[in-house]
Amino acid sequence: MSGSAVAAGGAPVRLGILLSGRGSNFLAIAHSIRTGRIKGAQIAVVISNVAETGGLKAAQELGLPHALLISRGRKRPEHDAEMIACLQAHQVNLVCLAGYMRLLSPEFVAAFPNSILNIHPSLLPAFPGLDAQAQAFAYGVKVAGCTVHFVDEHLDHGVIILQRAIPVLETDDAHSLADRILVEEHQAYSEAIGKVVSGEYEIRERRFVKCNPLATD
Ligand code: GRF
Repeated sequence: MSGSAVAAGGAPVRLGILLSGRGSNFLAIAHSIRTGRIKGAQIAVVISNVAETGGLKAAQELGLPHALLISRGRKRPEHDAEMIACLQAHQVNLVCLAGYMRLLSPEFVAAFPNSILNIHPSLLPAFPGLDAQAQAFAYGVKVAGCTVHFVDEHLDHGVIILQRAIPVLETDDAHSLADRILVEEHQAYSEAIGKVVSGEYEIRERRFVKCNPLATD
């Protein structure tokens, strides 16, 4: 997969986490690295674009490098350039959006080709954008879930790495559904990062598949 981040020559892939909120997906990733569920990766820096987020506080408590780069009132290209510089200063080779609630500029996407991941709380291409779980619940779907995908210049659109599905229960409301999807997100993001950094998968057209079709799981 040209340009994508893999654990080359034994050096761990350096993750840059971007977030805007509570950071539960970031914490799930950090836990997976600590416990060896994700191999060949380390968190190089955590960046929040919003002040006083739970995610930034957690990064501080874990002793991880972190930065607050406030986006409010800033032009996107200018703020994104600042983030690119910070990620490059920390030698990041895989960017993981973990509840980062701001669109990225084409310049940012181009700076990390095939090396930006996002998690979205719906089974894409259904329900892109904000409040995906509530959109899915209101639509009346019987199956919901989450998607981890590469980021391209379109919203919630890049190549899908993996998805996890759950049934919508008769007893669900939009909140309980979102809570149950979040449990799946925490599993899915670590699994997806593990696949990407393993170097065993490649992008073919819109498919993320094993490099060697004869290899078994
Ligand atoms: C998650 O639902 C994620 O799918 C979406 O934003 C939310 C972030 O939650 N992109 P958290 O900050 O990781 O807890």
